[in-house]
Parts: sequence; C-alpha cells; structure tokens
Amino acid sequence: MCGIVGYVGSRDATPLLVNGLRRLEYRGYDSAGVAIQENGHLEVRRAEGKLDNLVQAIAQKPLTGRSGIGHTRWATHGRPSEQNAHPHVDCGAVTAVIHNGIIENFAELKAPLVSDGHRFSSETDTEVVVHLLEEELKRGRPLEEAALRVLPQLEGAAALAFLSVKDPGKIVAARISNAGGVIVGYGEGENFIASDIPALLEHTRRMTFLDPGEMAVVTATGVSFRRLEDGAQIEKAVQQIQWDAVSAAKAGYKHFMLKEIHEQPRVVSDTLIGRVERTSGRVVFDDDLKLTDAQVRSLQRITLLGCGTAGYAALAGKYLIERLAKIPCDAEIPSEYRYRDPVVTGDHLVVSLTQSGETADTLGAMEEAKKRGARLLTFVNVMGSQASRLADDVIYLHAGPEISVASTKAYTTMLVDLYLFAIYLAQRRGTVSAEEAGQLLAEAFHLPTLIDAVLGEEPKVKALAYRYHQARDFLFLGRGMNYPTALEGAHKLKELSYSHAEGTAAGEMKHGINALIDETLPVIAIALRDSTYKKMRSNIQEVRARAGVVIAVADDDDEEIAEHADAVIRVPHTNELLSPALAVLPLHLFAYHVADRRGNDVDQPRNLAKSVTVE
Ligand code: F6R
Repeated sequence: MCGIVGYVGSRDATPLLVNGLRRLEYRGYDSAGVAIQENGHLEVRRAEGKLDNLVQAIAQKPLTGRSGIGHTRWATHGRPSEQNAHPHVDCGAVTAVIHNGIIENFAELKAPLVSDGHRFSSETDTEVVVHLLEEELKRGRPLEEAALRVLPQLEGAAALAFLSVKDPGKIVAARISNAGGVIVGYGEGENFIASDIPALLEHTRRMTFLDPGEMAVVTATGVSFRRLEDGAQIEKAVQQIQWDAVSAAKAGYKHFMLKEIHEQPRVVSDTLIGRVERTSGRVVFDDDLKLTDAQVRSLQRITLLGCGTAGYAALAGKYLIERLAKIPCDAEIPSEYRYRDPVVTGDHLVVSLTQSGETADTLGAMEEAKKRGARLLTFVNVMGSQASRLADDVIYLHAGPEISVASTKAYTTMLVDLYLFAIYLAQRRGTVSAEEAGQLLAEAFHLPTLIDAVLGEEPKVKALAYRYHQARDFLFLGRGMNYPTALEGAHKLKELSYSHAEGTAAGEMKHGINALIDETLPVIAIALRDSTYKKMRSNIQEVRARAGVVIAVADDDDEEIAEHADAVIRVPHTNELLSPALAVLPLHLFAYHVADRRGNDVDQPRNLAKSVTVE
C-alpha cells in the first residue's frame, strides 16, 4: 500500500527519490519522506499529506547525498502525520527504515526495547524495526547481518529498506511474506530499489523481483541476494521489462485515469494479438498457461476470485465460462473465501484476477486454495508480481502500467481475456462449434474499433455527469452479462465521487430497492438489445412510474428506448458476451467526470491506495 524507493550511486539522490515517489504516490498519499546519508550523517525530511508538501519541506531545508531511501505512506498504524511519516530513525539518528505492510507483533517487540531505554517518536508499527537494528549495529555488525537477525523476528506482511551511516553507501531491502513487493533496478555505477516498476522505468528496464523471504544488499557497484531463513547467498534472474517511461506518464491528459480510459482501443488490441492460432482458429495463450487439453476436459469446477473491480470481472467470468464451456463456476470475494473453510474438489481450477498481483486478500485466498489442492491460474497485469509466481498458470493482461487508483483498462482487459479464456475452454471441451467460435472471435477483433466509437461519446457523458454531479445517491441497474457492469459502475462512482451509489441486478429491485426511488435518484440502466432486453425495459418503466430519472445505456440503433428514458448514452452493438467491455466505458467516463466536476482528486481518491498489500 505504501511506496518505497531507494538509490545508491554518484548522483544527488534527493531529486531521484522524489521523482520515484511521484510515480508511486498512487500507492499511498497520507505523508511522505526521504532519508539521505552522506559524510557520516543521516538527514531526514518528512511531511504530512501529498508529496508536494515534502517537496516544499526539502526546498526550505535542502539535503544532498548520494544514497537515500524514500517513502509515500498509506496509514495503517498511527494517523497520517509528519511524526508517523517514514523514514523512521533510531535513537541516535544513525539508521533509517522505510516499510510497506504491517508488523503484527510490533507491540511485543517494542515493550523490551522501551524498558531498555529506547525512545520511540511515532505511533507506527514500523519504528520498532529501526530500534531492533540499532541494538544489532551497536555490536559492530554490517547492515545486512544486523538485518538478518532482526527480520526473522517480524511477523506479518512487509517490505522494508534500511540505510545506515554505520555501513555507508548501502541499502538493504527485504521482502517478508507475500505482501509488499521489492524490485531492484540496475544502472551504470548506480542501483535502485522500488516497490513497483513505474518508479524505476526512467532509469532502467533491467530489474530483479524479490520473492518473499529474500533480501537484497544494494551498493553503487553491485547487488547481492540472501535468503532470510538461513542467510545463504542466492542467485536471482535479471528481467528485461517491456514497459517504457512514456507509457507510465500522463501524456497531456488531465489525469492518469482519463489517459488510461483512452488507451483502451490499443490495450485491447494488444490483448487480442497472438491469441488465435491462424491454422486451427483455436484460442491459445502464451507459454505461461500450461494446462493440457486433457486437464481442461477433466475440469469439474472453476472458482474465480478478485477484489473490488477485479471481483466484478470474476463475476462476468463466471457468466462467460458457464455459458460457453458449461463448467460450473463460482465467483468469490477473496477475503471471504480464505477464511470460510472452502471446499476444493478434485480437478478444481481456482482463477484469480488482479491488476497489481500484490493484493493481500487475493494472494491469501490463492494460498488457501493451493493448500487445499486446487490448481491456480491468475490473470494479472504486473509481470513478476507475487500472483504470477504463486500461480501454476499465468495469463498476462497486457494493459500496460495502470497508475490511477481507479482501475479501468485493467478491468476491460480482464473482460476480454476472460472472454477468450471461455472460448479456449469451450473449444477444448467441444461445447462450441468451429463456426460459433469463429464468429465470437471475429467480433472480439472488432472490439478496439467499437471502443473507439464509445469513447467518441465522451462529451455527451460529460454533460450528463455535470447535470447530475450533485446527486447524493445513484442507482445502477443491469441484468445478465451486464449485472457485473452495474456493480462496477456503482463502485467506480463511489470511490471517485464519494457519493453513495448502488449497483444491483434489475430483477432484484422489487425485493427492496424500489423503496429508494424518487425524483432525486438518477438511475443508470444498461439496456442493451440482448436476451434480457425486454425485462430490462420493464424495470426501467418501474423506475419511471416512481418518478426516478433514467439514463439508459443502449444500442446505437435502438430508437424505442428514448421513449422510456430521460437520457440515452449510445454504444455500438456487439454480441451479448462481449458487451460488458463496451457498456462499462460510459460508466467509467461518468464516474470520472462527476468526480472531476466535484473537484475531487481523481487519481488519488481519499482513503484508498492502488496496491492493497494489507488485509
Ligand atoms: C477499483 C479498484 C479496486 C481494485 C482492487 C483489486 O477501481 O481499483 O477495487 O480493483 O483493489 O486490485 P487488484 O486488481 O490490483 O488486485
């Protein structure tokens, strides 16, 4: 949830760290800080609130040096304040620590330190680590040896990095358990660490990803790796990252979210490319899907898991797979799944969906499923992320870096990949004819053009968002394939606008939700000409009969719908199973423009963070 960066080399570390933090701010933005070590001194600057406050603090009291660490925080233990901002230092301001995650046993570790006279200056769980290190460093141990003694004492999920004047020109970074990524980036005569790829892209594409239980010792001239369990030296592969710095920048858009929405024609093309074998017309995934055709044929059940937006993709995946491949599916919330004693039967595939690949709840549920004997497949965007290592099979989303906290293009690519995956399963199980599969795939390849057309409707969506931006409540209705779309539309509006919004299956209205409807309630109804169209039109009439305001998302040639709605947003027609990838676009744009009109921070909504690496 928090972002960590580090630099050792011959350049001035401060601007490099601040730039890195700028790219990680989406992970947390309650406070930020840097620690720089030079000439036997450690200097720290910290500030509550957004990174710009830290920039001001540094401008007022500059600090320079050639090694340093930086942090942007999403508060867990201790309210957002300068005092609780990282880095934290020991009693003698000799060593600094930054941390992403939660140290569950910090209270037990702290008590003896306090009795021994250590002075704590924050309410965080993190500070205990630097006082433990202080004890070890006093005994003259190098930083990595001290860390090897301290880190095994910590319980919980964490990524940490240390810098000390006792062992200058060195950063020690470690990853404990699943949550909290640490990446090492390699430069010429300089090296970096960060929690996420975008913070490093400006400097290098050569990176190594720490696995849980591993530590990196980083100096300007080299990087070595140790195992936390026994301190043994280990070799780690260097990976070449394909993303470039340009694709991780705003490119003239007011917000990352808007840029990411407009990238969708391209990323959906990237998702489709290479996924259909020319000769056979069969869907193929790259080498990371190792399921054999025989295993696909014997699958008895699929459980799909995802948090928030990824969870709505999981629900759409259930509808798709059951419809095309006739395999019984469940869609589940990972934080429930992992603790509810789930039943895993033989030939059970558990599919996780995650943009970041670092969501603690999702990873926990995957581990639980694996323990119970399921085969794990993950649909993930970030290469090298923990989900991609935990899973037996991986399908990469090809969405490129998603920086905005609100997930948009990752959601669309999840929908497209799930559509392809359902066809893939159906082809191997013989539940679609070659002709039907060919037709479904041809429609998929047309999708980027259709997405482009929907994005052309943005001025109209914006006008509607401006008209209704002050409403206190919103209702999103969908049925069938677009029930998950209604849930996603409400979710996005809530997280960005801070208004209350509810998404529901339209058939459920009469069981309670109808009581909410009056003339102040905008109701966004997805009413495409599919198998649920007539039912949906009746639901719209029910809303109108109770004076609700209806905004319909409808097919571009549906003339009739205008009689039933106060406003209509048009999308081009595609097949029902693919339609969620189009219908969601105006809903994302609507949420964006309502939030922007309200003056909210669209890319960094309050109380949220991009990578949710705590439970
Ligand atoms: C919604 C949103 C969150 C994430 C959720 C899962 O816009 O951003 O609901 O979808 O936290 O994140 P990943 O996909 O990284 O596992």
